[in-house]
Amino acid sequence: MNEISFDGQVVVITGAGGGLGRTYAMEIARRGGKVVVNDLGGSIRGTDGSPTMADQVVAEITSAGGQAVANYDTVATKEGGGKIVQAALDTFGRIDVLINNAGNIRNDWVVNVREEDFQSQIATHLLGSFYTTQAALPHMAKQKYGRIVFTTSAAGMLGNRGQMSYGAAKGGVTALMNVVSLEAERHGILCNAVQPNAMNRFGPEMEKVMDDEAATRFGTVIPPLGETMAAEFTTPLMVYLASNACRSTHSIYSSLGGRFARVFIGITEGWEGSKNAPSTAEDIAAHIDEIRDETRGFIIPSDLINEFELVLSRRAEN
Ligand code: NAI
Repeated sequence: MNEISFDGQVVVITGAGGGLGRTYAMEIARRGGKVVVNDLGGSIRGTDGSPTMADQVVAEITSAGGQAVANYDTVATKEGGGKIVQAALDTFGRIDVLINNAGNIRNDWVVNVREEDFQSQIATHLLGSFYTTQAALPHMAKQKYGRIVFTTSAAGMLGNRGQMSYGAAKGGVTALMNVVSLEAERHGILCNAVQPNAMNRFGPEMEKVMDDEAATRFGTVIPPLGETMAAEFTTPLMVYLASNACRSTHSIYSSLGGRFARVFIGITEGWEGSKNAPSTAEDIAAHIDEIRDETRGFIIPSDLINEFELVLSRRAEN
């Protein structure tokens, strides 16, 4: 296996001033990539801002012999997203890779969620990933090469109490990836999403809204995972997906404690109702176990139309 290199490539990483993003920036720069280290440099809630975080990561990269430039714009506005991509073009003349990693967190129980907090989660994660992606795509399409990696979360993909707004924004990010990947593939641009798990400043924030049951379960699983919950244990997955070695597109990958896995949306074989007349609600009640049963197999459609194709091909078989 050839060593993965980013020589000659320009990589934009949002929210790279700390946590996971910093580790991506360090590793990609070590492998020859020229990195735009974007970070608002604010609180975990996404308030305030300072150049310090991005500057520190740029200093770390350059003192290790790599190339990087800092950018302090917010991903949460169209103007900010555009300026982040422009920083790559102005400084290094191109953009090959975009890693949408920036994120804030505002947890609360559904009944207590404030609209401004929900809007902040959507603006940062969902619109933030859209603004940078829309700005980067034409440049990647022109050069017929690009890699875009989105950051989703188990809170959105699987659910987690106390994280409705965050989870909804992250679920939206997955949907963004599902559509952008289909539109971008014809231009040589591959898009995937990472579902990371790392015990950095997000961990304590989650614990604040946990009920006793969740806190007990969380307290049971985190200590045994130990050092494997460090951000560095997710870095190789992100680096692979961002590289020219990556062949995957339109996919979601989970990284947890040194285990890497594909996350997918599957549809059960289901139950075939009458084709002569619509089934009744009672028919559904009678067959709900069969409808839900994944042990008889499932399909993983590659897009919307593919589900129709797969259902029709099953019908032809029977
Ligand atoms: P982090 O808080 O250390 O890093 C996020 C970075 O984004 C911060 O440096 C922050 O200053 C920056 N940021 C926030 N709002 C910004 C904005 N509007 N514009 C530009 N930068 C902004 O957190 P962590 O854990 O490294 O998270 C990285 C990504 O991974 C986030 O998208 C997060 O939602 C996601 N994630 C993290 C998980 C974890 O277990 N740590 C789990 C699932 C997803």
